[in-house]
Amino acid sequence: MKTSAADDFCWNDTWLVGHGPLDDEHQAFAGLIAALLAATDDSLASCLDEVMDHASAHFAEEDASMRRLNFPAQQCHMDEHAAVLRSAHGVRQRLRRGEVQPARRFASELAAWFPPHVQHLDSALATWICKQAWNAKPLVFHSRAHPRALAATAAAPSLV
Ligand SMILES: [Fe+2]
Ligand SMILES: [Fe+2]
Repeated sequence: MKTSAADDFCWNDTWLVGHGPLDDEHQAFAGLIAALLAATDDSLASCLDEVMDHASAHFAEEDASMRRLNFPAQQCHMDEHAAVLRSAHGVRQRLRRGEVQPARRFASELAAWFPPHVQHLDSALATWICKQAWNAKPLVFHSRAHPRALAATAAAPSLV
């Protein structure tokens, strides 16, 4: 069964944070969420495992960066990561007992959670990382940005 979230969810360049490694991981994460939303009952468990594997590694990297760079708002950001993983583990346990609906709900909630988390918390982290590394703000080039906006920033250095 597909939800409306499954029909709507796909990568959006407004989710770019301007830090290459984070953006690459977020694009992969979004692809795995889309696959989870579209999963059949038979593929639900494997799709959930892939989301959890990616999320665990990605969250661990972000958490380590926040600690290493003494990111000011790290606790609330880490708490969100931990809450997602806690929910995912609970959903996986129920899926192993044959309960499909919690996994469907989790997929929809994850799709709703992902954009604001990336646009607010991860974007703030990207800004902090770039400030520590280059004393500069990250630049984001949207594929559909207005040509004048692209021309104004074309000479800026890449921060990837
Ligand atoms: Fe992230
Ligand atoms: Fe994050």
